[in-house]
Amino acid sequence: MEILISAEQIQKRIAELAHEINAAYARHPITIIGVLTGSLIFLADLVRQLELPIQIGLLQASSYRGAATTPGELQLSTAMVPPLKGRHVLILDDIFDTGQTLASLTEHLREKEPLSLRVAVLLRKIGRQRIAFTPDYIGFDIPDVFVVGYGMDFNDEYRNLPHVAILADATAP
Ligand code: IMP
Ligand code: MG
Repeated sequence: MEILISAEQIQKRIAELAHEINAAYARHPITIIGVLTGSLIFLADLVRQLELPIQIGLLQASSYRGAATTPGELQLSTAMVPPLKGRHVLILDDIFDTGQTLASLTEHLREKEPLSLRVAVLLRKIGRQRIAFTPDYIGFDIPDVFVVGYGMDFNDEYRNLPHVAILADATAP
């Protein structure tokens, strides 16, 4: 598989993002919400460079595109999301593709009355956005290719690669 972003490049960029996030929150406590499962590796590397009091929550977002539900309708499992009222909240996800997941998710979490709500993604695919929404922190912009590794999967495989690779023969998921 062709390596798109090396492990070294990822680590260097995460250090820069952590620096930006540390400066933005200025030691105020924040709640990090990781979107399962793809954000886990990004979350683990990023939080170890944050010099802020943090809480970590996790949520699962699955979109059903079958005939039974509205296309793109999002199902959220929020059992592991702590109370967000009055907290600075930073959502972490692996990749911003059409933007539907993060747009619906932020809308939902805003109802929990956080003090602030921001979004950080490791990757953003250029030319795919269907929603007027821009993440606050973006690791890398990438072309419209299917990628795996560093948390991201194809049929639940390849999440453990230390780099981001292009999966050449992925049939569109
Ligand atoms: P969106 O709602 O279209 O932005 O979908 C974002 C979600 O789709 C991400 O959180 C990933 O789980 C998944 N996804 C989109 N593109 C890729 C990819 O290239 N590789 C792996 N997962 C992807
Ligand atoms: Mg995802």
